[in-house]
Amino acid sequence: MRRLALLVPVLALLAVAGCGSSSGGGGGGTVAGPPGKKLFVENGCGSCHQLSAADGQGSFGPNLDALKPSAAQVEAALRQGPGAMPSFEGRLSDADIATLADYVQTSAGA
Ligand code: HEC
Repeated sequence: MRRLALLVPVLALLAVAGCGSSSGGGGGGTVAGPPGKKLFVENGCGSCHQLSAADGQGSFGPNLDALKPSAAQVEAALRQGPGAMPSFEGRLSDADIATLADYVQTSAGA
């Protein structure tokens, strides 16, 4: 029984770390890899889109591995928030939008 008692708080901690991180900076939220990947993960793109390179497994929005959008296409989506997708204009800086758009273009289908 001792093992179980240890495991429960660990799982609880993982769950908190998993969804609590927005772009606030500070504790936790270390995503290994390029900055674009970090942005993809931290902004929850992967909860709606599949993008294998960033472990995105969502199926609410189009599969980005299959769509292979250009950076310009990603940037337009981020700014406009097409359909059911939220707009990230104002939530992300221009530099972040460019980094993210570039990352999706180069990593889609990888
Ligand atoms: C709440 C779910 C949701 C989130 C979060 C989300 N998207 Fe989307 N996204 C969608 C949906 C739904 C569409 C399809 C919209 C449509 O065309 O009707 C879409 C479309 C797109 C497209 C395709 C645009 C095109 O030209 O066809 C790209 C690229 C994209 N999203 C990238 C991203 C990125 C990058 C992020 C993270 C910053 C993100 N999305 C976050 C739901 C989401």
